Amino acid sequence: MIEVGSLEALPETEGVLVETEAGIEIAVFRLGGAAVAVQADCPHRGGPLVEGTRCGIDQLECPWHAWYFDLRTGKCLNQEAQLLCYPVRIVDGTVFVVA
Ligand code: FES
Repeated sequence: MIEVGSLEALPETEGVLVETEAGIEIAVFRLGGAAVAVQADCPHRGGPLVEGTRCGIDQLECPWHAWYFDLRTGKCLNQEAQLLCYPVRIVDGTVFVVA
């Protein structure tokens, strides 16, 4: 598991980038009292999803060409695409990504 940090310290409007030991980058987002983790690169052309714009509590717009994603499911809402989602655990207020 990858320790991300305290849930309360996670920004509400931006993503946090973490990396597995194998060098895979994962974007972590706070959704109120929960957190989600998805692949860091947009499936369109690799845009940095951590720099995306949050739309409501659970949607994200890629900063490059405005593909929209549901962060809870990883599903793209305006194109046929799907983000890889990673399980998240919160233990005593600390967020971990299972990867
Ligand atoms: S790279 Fe994300 S929408 Fe094009």
